[in-house]
Amino acid sequence: MLIRDGFIAAVGTRAKVEALRESRKAEKIDLGGCVVLPGFVDSHTHLIHAASRAEEYELKIAGASYEEIARKDGGILNSVKKLRTATENALKTRATAALARFAAYGTTTIEAKSGYGLDVASELKILKLHQSLGAEQPVEIASTFLGAHVVPAEYRAKSDGAERYIELLTEKLLPQVVAAGLAEFCDVFCDRGAFTRDQSRCVLQAGMDLGLMPRIHAEQLSRTGATQLAVELGAASCDHLEQVNATDIRALGKSETVATLLPGCDFHLGLKKYAPARALIDAGAIVALATDYNPGTSPTVSMPMILSLACTQLRMTPAEAIAAATINGAYALRRENKIGSLDVGKQADFAAFDVADYREIPYYFGVNTCVLTFKRGRVIHASE
Ligand code: NIG
Ligand code: FE
Repeated sequence: MLIRDGFIAAVGTRAKVEALRESRKAEKIDLGGCVVLPGFVDSHTHLIHAASRAEEYELKIAGASYEEIARKDGGILNSVKKLRTATENALKTRATAALARFAAYGTTTIEAKSGYGLDVASELKILKLHQSLGAEQPVEIASTFLGAHVVPAEYRAKSDGAERYIELLTEKLLPQVVAAGLAEFCDVFCDRGAFTRDQSRCVLQAGMDLGLMPRIHAEQLSRTGATQLAVELGAASCDHLEQVNATDIRALGKSETVATLLPGCDFHLGLKKYAPARALIDAGAIVALATDYNPGTSPTVSMPMILSLACTQLRMTPAEAIAAATINGAYALRRENKIGSLDVGKQADFAAFDVADYREIPYYFGVNTCVLTFKRGRVIHASE
């Protein structure tokens, strides 16, 4: 691979690339013996949060369900409380450390969602952090507005609190987010305990009217019809999908909406029902894999671990899982022309793994075989 100014200028056999005139002056990095992949594109994360929810982890192990914990002021609202009182500096320090770890596991681009602020000032605080972190460290960040994560506590006491909160989102917050150029995408958590399909449509449509591409948290805890909504709106992606039915699978199979699977959630929550990856692939759906890095359901930054889960629990082949974690993730972020594969003209975003065969990346689970990560042709992570 020949890299010029951060982009891939040539790819091919060693003999072919070395024979190019431009290669003579090039600095040589020999990755012989490693497997080199496009940098992982992690198309679903909740990057900015103030702290872990390890206290809830113990409750879950003792038998409490995710929804039971959420009803008792835990869950997303627990993280909202923590975020609102956290300083910008503290949030930034935590996110910067996480981003370095993403890179250490071979990830070069992530999507990041707001959604733990749920008031005007706190949501803007999160989205501005996406922007400053994107400028100040090398992992590329695609920013998503997820004001419609859940109805915040102060609106729950009011009659038609959900409607009034949606009004705040669509009338006040979304216009400010768009005017300041703080997001590319608009997301909604459409599920039991969060937003209904009609409420989700209203928020996503308001975002679309202002130029934000929709994506959606769909069919995670219950089947709400969010997938049909995603397909109807031409959403960039439809994420989770544990509870989809045959009609949903068919609809995704015929659409350009990426089916993003997040097996880290089921693993962390100890749930047995993983998304039907094989049926989705067989139906022709574009399947992506992502970490869903967040403190409540999937506290991991490791795409290799997600590949391991995809292989053993979703029955995807290692090759399918790698495609889902790279080019299909890029497509979910509508960046397929820039990243996600090692093709001429694309950004030189790639990672080297100290393994003899690409299948060994998911095969060795829970360990990190990534030794070098490059973003736009520059080393952003090197192991000891
Ligand atoms: O993708 N489902 C909604 N949002 C997150 C969980 C957020 C949380 O529990 O803090 C998810 O799983
Ligand atoms: Fe999520």
